[in-house]
Amino acid sequence: MKKIDEILDQYAGRVNQQLEKCLPEESDPPHVLHQAMRYAVLGDGKRIRPILVYTTGEALGVPLERLDSPACAVELIHSYSLVHDDLPAMDDDDLRRGRPTCHKAFDEATAILVGDAVQALAFSELANDSANTLHRRIAMIQLLAECTGSQGMVGGQAIDLASVDKKLSKEEIEHMHRLKTGALIKASVLMAAIADHTNNSETYNHLARFAECLGLIFQIRDDILDIQGNTEILGKPQGSDAAQNKPTYPSIVGMEEAENASSELLRQACHEMDQLSVQWESLHTVSHYIVTRSL
Ligand code: IPE
Ligand code: IPE
Ligand code: MG
Ligand code: MG
Ligand code: MG
Repeated sequence: MKKIDEILDQYAGRVNQQLEKCLPEESDPPHVLHQAMRYAVLGDGKRIRPILVYTTGEALGVPLERLDSPACAVELIHSYSLVHDDLPAMDDDDLRRGRPTCHKAFDEATAILVGDAVQALAFSELANDSANTLHRRIAMIQLLAECTGSQGMVGGQAIDLASVDKKLSKEEIEHMHRLKTGALIKASVLMAAIADHTNNSETYNHLARFAECLGLIFQIRDDILDIQGNTEILGKPQGSDAAQNKPTYPSIVGMEEAENASSELLRQACHEMDQLSVQWESLHTVSHYIVTRSL
């Protein structure tokens, strides 16, 4: 059984090589835009979404080459979402992945364009992926578009912005978290299922429910770390949510209940996977890491 560090290193290393290859060179014009795109994407991210693509694929027995483009595409969308999330009009943060945010290192207009271009690159990466059939490429593009857009991550970000200074119910914050963060986690797991030639609807449905639990856990942990974490370890400012009076999972239900909810969601997630006859050790190890991580 692989240890967590081995899994993280193996798959983060693999997607980093893919990202490096697919991003335009700084020497190609427009130079500053390309430099800023590389700065935003190739920074020190955990690469959790690509790692979920690879470990789900590993559980299903999918060859790694078929997972490279979806892994790369979801990380591109995620990186673009962070660039925009940090802008003054949104969370107004100055630190990301241990260095100045894109709009601080460059400027706001460049950061907006980085997001636009990196999003387009994600879909072009999937469209040009010769390791998957046309049919599967289209299915991945459809899924990623749905999980990114106004009924996915972007929709969640809109709810987040509209919730400043408001008190949400537990159901409302769960809905927001499922969209703003859960949707891309779900896309990560399900794109691996699409890459699996033997995929069937029962497996897909279990994986979808597994990923929904994991996505909510991911943002609950992010909210907990905003309170209990350390800026140096996180590589982003601790206390950003409180500074902006954003409702978070622990601010609504309390810290103890937030921890309990994560454990219960992990139990539900594992229950979904246990009903499949697949070897999912690495995915299981990564799921535990998501609940306990300190960065
Ligand atoms: C941060 O995501 C934003 C959320 C959706 C919670 P990550 O914690 O995955 O950030 P990186 O990619 O490692 O920087
Ligand atoms: C971000 O949520 C979710 C995204 C879609 C980017 P947060 O605003 O809590 O993420 P961090 O804490 O800045 O990474
Ligand atoms: Mg935000
Ligand atoms: Mg933020
Ligand atoms: Mg946060």
